[in-house]
Formats: sequence, structure tokens, C-alpha cells
Amino acid sequence: MKKIILSLFIVVSLAFNLRADEGMWIPMLLQNNEQEMQEMGMNITVEDIYSINHSSMKDAVVLFDGGCTGEIVSDKGLLLTNHHCGFDWIQYHSTVEHDYLTNGFWAMSQEEELVCPGITAVMLKSMEDVTDRVLEGVDERRTSAEERAEIVANNIDKIKAEAEANTDYQVIIRSFYNGNKYYMIYNEVFRDVRLVGAPPSNIGKFGGDTDNWVWPRHTGDFSVFRIYVSPDGKAADYSENNVPYKPNYHFPISLKGVEEGDFTFVFGYPARTNEYLPAVAVNQEANVIYPVNVDLRGKILDIYNKYQEKDPKVRIQYASKHAHLGNGWKKWMGVVEGINNFKGVEKKYDFDKAFTKWAYQSRARGAYLTLIDEFEKVYAEYEPYRLATTYLSETVLNIEVVTFAASFNKLSKVTKDTPQEEIEKLIENAREATKVFFKDYHQPIDEEVAAMALQEYINNQPADFRPELLNTIVEKYDNVQSYVDELFAKTMFTSEEDINKFLDKFKPSKAKKLAQDPALMAYNNVMDFYEKNVKTKAIELNNKINDMQRVFMRGQMEYHAEVNPDKMMYPDANFTLRVTYGKVGGFSPRDAVRYKHYTTLDGIMQKENPDIYDYVVTDRLRELYETKDYGRYADKDGSIHVAFIAGNHTTGGNSGSPILNADGHLLGLNFDRTWEGTMSDLIYDPSICKNISVDIRYVLFIIDKYAGATRLIEEMTIIE
Ligand code: ARG
Ligand code: ASP
Repeated sequence: MKKIILSLFIVVSLAFNLRADEGMWIPMLLQNNEQEMQEMGMNITVEDIYSINHSSMKDAVVLFDGGCTGEIVSDKGLLLTNHHCGFDWIQYHSTVEHDYLTNGFWAMSQEEELVCPGITAVMLKSMEDVTDRVLEGVDERRTSAEERAEIVANNIDKIKAEAEANTDYQVIIRSFYNGNKYYMIYNEVFRDVRLVGAPPSNIGKFGGDTDNWVWPRHTGDFSVFRIYVSPDGKAADYSENNVPYKPNYHFPISLKGVEEGDFTFVFGYPARTNEYLPAVAVNQEANVIYPVNVDLRGKILDIYNKYQEKDPKVRIQYASKHAHLGNGWKKWMGVVEGINNFKGVEKKYDFDKAFTKWAYQSRARGAYLTLIDEFEKVYAEYEPYRLATTYLSETVLNIEVVTFAASFNKLSKVTKDTPQEEIEKLIENAREATKVFFKDYHQPIDEEVAAMALQEYINNQPADFRPELLNTIVEKYDNVQSYVDELFAKTMFTSEEDINKFLDKFKPSKAKKLAQDPALMAYNNVMDFYEKNVKTKAIELNNKINDMQRVFMRGQMEYHAEVNPDKMMYPDANFTLRVTYGKVGGFSPRDAVRYKHYTTLDGIMQKENPDIYDYVVTDRLRELYETKDYGRYADKDGSIHVAFIAGNHTTGGNSGSPILNADGHLLGLNFDRTWEGTMSDLIYDPSICKNISVDIRYVLFIIDKYAGATRLIEEMTIIE
């Protein structure tokens, strides 16, 4: 009997057993992976990747601008990241005369490198396990969830304050394994990072939203920055006197390219994954929440598309909004499809059952006996609140005039006692917001989105989960359209001229008029409802779930330690530095289809279409293609390789990460995943979960041959 149970465990756990490619590992603990990495082909040691005693690769990897990864590629602080990561800064520096987004930008000397106020590049200096200190005073059996949260928060404050007193570095303490482990991290925060170069969007965003999340891909998704420091070499605010940063390490660049089966690793800042959830949670995500997100966003994007296709001006105005909504929309579709094809929820249920059975086998596992049942209950209770939040954010908060009106909220509340200075500041902010808003606003789109969104909200949310505004629409108006017509006829927020006139003559006695504007009223009505009826309960349930997840995570670690002692468990991504490794290789997304592992410039020319914005190719690139002026950047097959895929377990935040070969030389920049594998944040299946990188040789080809910014190539360390 025991044998049968045991083999059942093995079968079930195999489904979630670590396959070589799965996992995002803490660099400090990489010794545990060294043997496997070397068996897979790595020629270096993990000490070369992460060391606190001498320079190592970690000294060349940064968290770029709070959301992406970047890597240093010269001894003068030259940094590479993705085009979509540098996008906001390229846009920031673009004007009508200097349209860097469209035409690209290349600083031909250091003097021409552009200052980016507020940007950061964060470099990890060291990290240490502080679990015992953070959990001091916690009794695993007796301490309640609330007490635990309080003890942990106090201990963290104390440990952090102590550490900060002894260092100039930034100190952060992060929870790993859902609150079962804590690490303290010391960071150097660089604050003078300048824009050095960017290809035109035709290259940096080639394929646009059409190709986003999809393989085969032909995007030259890179941009170039440089870190500057004070003359004594320290991270500093911008100053004219700052000098290029001399790093402890920079990545050598390989011109050798990749072959199927080659070992690679990716070093960067994955933001968030949830690989250890119970089945009920994955089911809720994939079958309840994401379908709503996908449906609502899809309807909004249809409206955008209709107007964007008609009018080139609107296409540009809504390009960034489209990209933003479309990125999640497309990804979630992939997640839902992937999980269903993989029978992911069923597999999770099998695991949950095996886990509970295991819990019943020993008295020491009492904490886990009813955990799965309790998850069922609490997620059921949570569901309406999650849906309410989803409807709110995907409908009302996508009505542009409503969220724009919200930026006048503070001004609508001033009184005659508000200091004049503060009022002036608010007016100034409002003017700025107005300018930004109208630059990219097309009212017919917004009206159509508003009517659609409110109708969807009414149709799909029960009356007691609807803000008063929506119930008023149902009761007092003939239909949603008549409310929308009235809203747009009466609000001031659709006219830049009216707003500016109003701001010119603003005095506190007029605040009321603002507060009574129907767009601002709509916003406040909906948000008040959310604050009172949704948020508190949602946070309460979420805290409860987090606490249960901590116990479940601990249980899963104990379970695997017994059932598959060889399985190493990695903590979910939490925006800390990680290493992931896997092999280069194509895959088969469906019957009869096989994807190669790389794409080429020939593929760009095949996709070329001067009438489709996403597929326009510049004359210059066509010329280089026609004359085959590839220099040393061509592959040995004679073509320019543009992108490649490999089995590295990556997620959002890994964009811009260096992808490295067996010797630790730079092969390219990670920037996306394949659509079939987007479920990898919840369930990782190595046969379809692949990361997409731009080939470094394409990057250098563009910098050197296309843009002529050869001075940048000269400062790199290139291995032919
Ligand atoms: N899908 C990638 C990521 O999640 C790239 C997004 C930027 N590119 C785009 N075409 N929207 O960030
Ligand atoms: N494109 C993502 C990013 O920007 C990476 C991913 O989700 O694979 O970080």
C-alpha cells in the first residue's frame, strides 16, 4: 500500500518536478546549481557570476529605471537595455524637430549624451540571509497571522535602520518563499544615467504589437545608455562634473552566435511569478479573471483599432495606449490558452490532492491537513471582490475623460483657507496634465469606449457590486448611451480651451464647480464605492490568502524534501536579482509546426510592407541588406541573425537582461517570451516556455553599420 502511495506521489510530483530549464535562482546560492550548469555545458564557475570577494558578473547587471534590466558593456559604464525599456526616455527627448522615436538617436560624442532626470540604475552590492532576525519572536505554532505581520514589520524596520546607519548603500529587505525566508540586500543607486543611442522605432519596435509575445520575431529591441558618477567614482545626482562610471566588471561580447543545444543563462530582475499556487487560485486566474480582462480590453482595442486605421494622426496618438493595453491583453490570452492546453488546473488539483494525502501521514503535518479546503473557501469568497476590482479598472478607469478629471480632484477641494502657493502649484500641475492629455486625446474613441465599458459593467456585475452611478444609469436614463451623451455634453474636461480658461480665472469659490463636473463626479462616485465596499474586504482576504500561501509554501518545501529530495526549489520572482539557465532551441507549438531557434534579416525583408506601420523598413536597412554589407556581424551562414529563443525561465522585468553563453560572454538581450509559453508565470512547461532575445550581432550591426556610432563599438570588449 505504502509503495503505491509513494509511486503516486512520484508520478504526480513529476508533473511539477524541476526540469533543467525551470527556476530563477538567487545568485548568492548558486553553488547548488553549479554542477547542473556545468553538466549542461557551462565553462565557468558560479563564483565568476556572483562573488562578494572579487569582481564578478553581478557587478555589470542593474535594475534599469525601476522596471527592466540593463547590463554594462564597457569600462566607461556603457549600458544596454531594451528599446521598450528606454522608450519613455527616448520619447522624453523627442520633439517635432528631433523625433528620436521615429528616426533614432545617436550621441556621436560623450557631450551629446542626454541627461534623463529621475532615472535610476540599481546595482546589487551584497545580500545576506536575515530570516532568523526577521522572525525573532514568531512562534510558528502560536503566533497569529496579525501578530506575525506586526512582529515581522517591526523587526524589518529595526534591522534596516541598523544596517543603514553603517552604510551609504540603499538597504532593502525582501521576503522570499512567501514569507518563509528574508534577505537583506545592499544596493548602489546610480542616478545619472544618460541616453546614448536608440534605433528608429522601425527597428527597435519592428513588428510592433502585431508581433508582440510572438515567435518568430524580428525586433531590434535595444537602446544604449551610460552611467555617470561623481569624479571620485560614487553614485551621484546629475552634475556637469560627473564622469563615466568605471565598473568592476563589464561583459565581453561574443560574435560567435548560438547553435541549437548551446548552454545559456540570463541574469536579471524578474518581477513576479506565482508558481506555487493551489489549483483553485490558478483556476480563478485562468478561467475567471483573465477572461474578463481579455474580453474587456479586446473590446477597447477594437475601438482603438477602428479609429487608428482611419486616421494616421489617431494611430500615433493611441500607439502608446494601444501598446500598454495590448501587452496585457495578448499575454493573458496566451496564459489562458496555455494553461488549458497543458491541463494545468487539473495537474495542480492532482498535486493538491497528493499534498493533502501526504499531510495526513504524519502528526507533524497538522498545519497542512485542511489547507487545500480552506483555500477553496477563501478563494470563493475572494472572487466577487477580485471581479469587482477587475471591472472597475478595465472599464471606468479606461474612460479617459474620467481619469483625466481625477487629476483635478485636489483642486476641486481647495477652500479659501488653502495657501495661495499650494493653489498655484495645483493649477500648474493641472495645466501640465491638460497639455499632456490633449496631445493624445480623440474624443470619439473615448465616447465609444465609455458606452461600451459602462454597459459591460452593468451587464456583468450584480447590483450590489455596482457603484451608485451605474445603478442611477439603469434607473434614471433610457439607456447607457443617453447617459454618455449627457456626460460628454456637460463635462468641461473634453475641451482644452475651456479648461485653460477656467484655470486662468480659478479662485477657491470655483472649486465647487469642478467638483460638480459630471466626469469628476463619475470618478469619485465609483472610487468611493470601491473604497467602502470592495477595497477593505479585498485587502483582508488577500492578507489571509498570503498567510495561507506562506504555510502552503513551507509545506511544499517539506513535501518535496521528502518525496523528491533531488528537487531544488526556487523562490518566486520578487524583483530581486536572479540567474536562470537553459539551452538554445526551437520548439513545436502545435501539430506539424516546428519553429527554428533563430530569425534573420531576410525575415525582416519578407515581412516588409510599406503600408503596414509595424512592418515598414527604412531605406538604409534595405540598402545594407541589398549590398550585404554585414562586416563581422554576419553569422557563418552569411546572414544577419536578428533574434533567437532558448529555454530560460524569465518574466516581466527580465526585459533587457543579458543572455550569456557558456563562457559568460554576451549573446544578446532578453526581451520577451513566446506566446504559447506565457503561462510560465503560473506553470512552467519547458517544451513551450521559451525566452526571446535579440542577437547581440544585430545590435552591433545596427550601431556600427546602420548608425555609424562606431565609437561605441570601440569601447566594447569584442570576442570574434
Ligand atoms: N511583451 C514584452 C513585455 O512584456 C514586450 C512589450 C513591449 N513591446 C510591445 N510591442 N508592446 O514587456
Ligand atoms: N517583455 C517582458 C519585459 O518587459 C519580458 C517578459 O515578460 O518576458 O520585462
